[in-house]
Amino acid sequence: MPDLQYADIQGLILRTYAMPVLRVFALSVTQPGMARQFLGRLVNGVEDGNCDPDGHGDDAPQLATATDWTIKPQYCLNVGLTYAGLAALGLPASSLATFPEEFASGAATRAEWIGDTGESSPEKWKDHFASSDLHVLLFLFAQADDILERVSSRVRAMYIPNGAMSELSAHDARSLPENKAHFGYRDGFAQPTIDGGLPPVMPDMLPKAPAGEFLFGYASQYSGFSYPVPAPVALGRNGSFVAFRILAQDCHGFEQFLTQAARQTGLDRELIAAKLCGRWRNGVPLSLSPSSPGEEIPLEKRNSFDYVPSTSVPDAFDDARGYRCPLGSHIRRMNPRNSIVAGNGGLKHRIIRRGLPYGPPYDPANPHDGIERGLLGLFIGISLKDQFEFLMADWANKGSFAPGLRNTKDPILGNNSNNLDPGGTFLIPVEGQKRPIELTGLSRFVTCRGAAYCFLPSATAIRYIADLPSQS
Ligand code: HEM
Repeated sequence: MPDLQYADIQGLILRTYAMPVLRVFALSVTQPGMARQFLGRLVNGVEDGNCDPDGHGDDAPQLATATDWTIKPQYCLNVGLTYAGLAALGLPASSLATFPEEFASGAATRAEWIGDTGESSPEKWKDHFASSDLHVLLFLFAQADDILERVSSRVRAMYIPNGAMSELSAHDARSLPENKAHFGYRDGFAQPTIDGGLPPVMPDMLPKAPAGEFLFGYASQYSGFSYPVPAPVALGRNGSFVAFRILAQDCHGFEQFLTQAARQTGLDRELIAAKLCGRWRNGVPLSLSPSSPGEEIPLEKRNSFDYVPSTSVPDAFDDARGYRCPLGSHIRRMNPRNSIVAGNGGLKHRIIRRGLPYGPPYDPANPHDGIERGLLGLFIGISLKDQFEFLMADWANKGSFAPGLRNTKDPILGNNSNNLDPGGTFLIPVEGQKRPIELTGLSRFVTCRGAAYCFLPSATAIRYIADLPSQS
């Protein structure tokens, strides 16, 4: 088991914070020296992760690492740096050159490859997300609104008055009742369990993912291969990458589609919702309960399944053909577990998911309230290309990786409507029937409204950046 240096690793990589509010600050470096000082203060070790009640603490809020908690802190603050940000902070070219190409290119340049086209294309993104002015993202998770506001004021007081960075925008998200995401599904079940990391919140019976899939400096799943650590080691080791996404969700369109598909097929609306996701809206996987929502299955058992019998789950129902959980459903595409798929196996592209929904719960009685709803999503892995981009480009937006999917796309995430493909199709295989049920007319229910690729530096790396010499 690798010996992970918890105190050096940003907390959001290894830990589910389970905090109800999140604010993401999008910042641009204006005074590199001051900005480096700002970063240095986040790791100077003075504050204790709790927010003083008067809100006027002199100590800087501290970076949340994965160090074990005795008492859960009131907030957790994490930092992501874009490639342009690393350059603006003064990282030498020799070091910048050691970062992977997809990170250097950035989310806007890679957009078309992963399906961010049409309404999701960078020209339509909010604020400055498509610009090279975006340098730093701060992720502030908090236990309550007042804590979020107090810590926000303290953080802003550290970069605004001295002109270190300008705030391009800030984005708020908050958990919905019962831990649901918009579209009404309960979220928070499946996450990779990392070898040497913390125990899983929801056990899944799958093999542990090697630490080197999520952190630089450790062995990956490929024998004899570790992802090259960005240089110098003090900068790269214990770091990771995150694809940050602002994903707007068309709740009304989704509900209308369910109604129309139920009419078209005679199937129950909730069963259709379950087939699209792979889980009933209460989170019970179709693999465990194929024909009813299975309320009796306890929460902690709702992630213990596989799609085919495997070494880890020998008694799993053999659903190779997708009679219980369609091969094209969202969760089976995003993690086919032990199903046979192209792309080097179902378990080879795991990703850590963090984030929270934004916007109020959708109210079917008031479907056209004009309020944007969605997800502030953080998708973490050591290789943006082999994990996040692979999932989007190969498994969400293509059908060629598994038998029988034809050219269908992920029903929740897929970039289904564009001029070439005005309405997507979803296939529901049925035992004893030669042809699957075809749902047609899927539109793009999720639109990207902003994205950024960020490096998640270790505490050591932040100190290293803070100590970089000024460039003359
Ligand atoms: C607004 C957009 C999205 C919605 C509404 C959504 C919804 C869901 C839901 C309801 C689940 C099941 C809950 C769970 O297993 O914990 C899930 C699981 C998952 N999603 Fe998404 N998702 C979205 C975007 C994405 C994106 C962009 C990715 C990655 C590129 C992704 C990857 C995954 C993965 C890996 C799982 C876990 C699958 C498993 O291990 O069984 N999702 N998502």
